Amino acid sequence: MLIQRLTDILSSEITAPEIYRGRREFMRAAGTLALAGGLGLQVADAAAGVKLAGTRPGPYGTSEELTPYKDVTTYNNFYEFGTDKADPAVNAGSLNPRPWTVRVDGLVNRPGQYDIDALLKLASLEDRIYRMRCVEGWSMVVPWVGYPLNELIRRVEPLGSAKYVEFTTLNDRARMPGLRSPVLDWPYTEGLRLDEARHPLTLLAVGLYGETLPNQNGAPVRIVVPWKYGFKSAKSIVRIRFVEHRPISSWERAAPREYGFYSNVNPEVDHPRWSQSRERRIGEFRKRKTLMFNGYGEQVARMYTNLDMRRYY
Ligand code: MTE
Repeated sequence: MLIQRLTDILSSEITAPEIYRGRREFMRAAGTLALAGGLGLQVADAAAGVKLAGTRPGPYGTSEELTPYKDVTTYNNFYEFGTDKADPAVNAGSLNPRPWTVRVDGLVNRPGQYDIDALLKLASLEDRIYRMRCVEGWSMVVPWVGYPLNELIRRVEPLGSAKYVEFTTLNDRARMPGLRSPVLDWPYTEGLRLDEARHPLTLLAVGLYGETLPNQNGAPVRIVVPWKYGFKSAKSIVRIRFVEHRPISSWERAAPREYGFYSNVNPEVDHPRWSQSRERRIGEFRKRKTLMFNGYGEQVARMYTNLDMRRYY
């Protein structure tokens, strides 16, 4: 039953942009906070971004047109705040992303608890424009702010036995109203192979459009893995655990025939109920062809040369 409900939601028609834009108005409160330019400021209004100063342009840019801020922040998947694309922007005010700590543990020499402001200062912040392709058939181009997850990984010194990394999201009903609904087996978890997690494209994101992450996009810290379907990019993470065996993610647990561990963007392997060959870029009407590895094949294909990508989808 759970799977039935879940797949019903995912297979539902994607709302046309002209409808969702007009449906609910998300009030962006940028400018209402002191933009002091320093890191680690208190985020007083959860919906508002605080400017992240001193970022530098990162590699892997794209000249493609950016998806407007309004669309990036009002058309979201964040089931802890509801299953409608408009729900997170409306409901995520209760998330309260500060104070926040991220536990990093498991098979590492130097486990630890990182306060979010310490995490922000751990490495220099980069602006990285990535395409994001959702498994449901839409895509965006988002200017993220963050640094490679590997900056954190090398500091905690994974043991030789660590082969995978598991990400766990906040699990607090008082702050996440969607957790009352059994749509997924909470908390939301995701995983990567260690080499994927260490790949220079894998970003520990703390902002977008030059500001701290809006709650609905996974404040205060999330993962962005641009060559995989969007659900691999776990939001509002509280734990990063290094493990020996492949973790089972929330989506894989819910519907293993539909959502595998790898979930590399692959136009040649259809989802059991729909094609993955094309996508709708949010803001455009004509569909585009989906690119292998979401266009990042040059950077990542070598990690999968010995993997049957039809079997390990
Ligand atoms: N992380 C959590 N904790 N909960 C979620 O429901 N949804 C995933 C992913 N991370 C999700 C999540 C899915 S399906 C997608 S497509 C992306 O977040 C969407 O990220 P965005 O809303 O910032 O575009």
